[in-house]
Amino acid sequence: MTTLSTLNKFKKEGVKFTCLTCYDAMFARLMDKAQIDTILIGDSLGMVVQGHSSTLPVTIEDMVYHTANIARSNEHALILADLPFMSYVTLPEAITNSRKLMQAGAQVIKIEGGSELCDLVTTLAQAGTPTCVHLGLTPQLVNVFGGYKIQGRSDEAADKLLNDAQAVVGAGAALLVLECVPAELAKKVTESVEVPVIGIGAGADTDGQVLVMHDMLGMVHGRVPRFVHDFLTDERNTEHSIEGAFALYKQAVQEGSFPTKQHQFD
Ligand code: KIV
Repeated sequence: MTTLSTLNKFKKEGVKFTCLTCYDAMFARLMDKAQIDTILIGDSLGMVVQGHSSTLPVTIEDMVYHTANIARSNEHALILADLPFMSYVTLPEAITNSRKLMQAGAQVIKIEGGSELCDLVTTLAQAGTPTCVHLGLTPQLVNVFGGYKIQGRSDEAADKLLNDAQAVVGAGAALLVLECVPAELAKKVTESVEVPVIGIGAGADTDGQVLVMHDMLGMVHGRVPRFVHDFLTDERNTEHSIEGAFALYKQAVQEGSFPTKQHQFD
């Protein structure tokens, strides 16, 4: 069974760990067999399960339903679940909605943003609810960013991201996710905080890696993002199976053969 202590130990020892998004029982069982370290019930389900063009329509009821599916079907992974768009604007609603996810089986609550989340992070930590703060390309802010764009490219934006990361960790965040930021910045953030950092499109130097499950099984709607690799059709997946793809992803992350330079942004 993976816990936050396991991930902290991995960070100290330089052992790279895996995270995949998951939304239903059967895939959660296959991830259990492949010993994927952490599972994220991501609000990306709005796009890959529900067919929306963004994560914004996802509700807390959707997140509770999918979190419970996973919690029933996986014993090995630490379970992270997203608070969806506008469900944590005020402290009372954030607390109510976090409680719903934790009671559905989440072990860590993921929220998107920066230092403005510090009060919430501290309040939840004091109430026994660890948080994972998602920085960089935070999909819930797509309308603010004007599209899904790489973040942290200017010196000013990079400094802000580093400061945000340090502020939320200082406030008690247990984990960070960095999405679509230059690899060098991701390395700097990872080295500057004590908690494990999980990257997606953030280079090879974060402590762990996360991918959307459908993407890494080659099921991509539209343009394939640069940071995605199809592990299902990879020739090293000799069984050509989904379980084999999960196992290969774990092996590739641990041995450092994924991600490579071709998957990162500079
Ligand atoms: O919702 C999601 O799947 C995510 C990952 C892309 C990190 O936030």
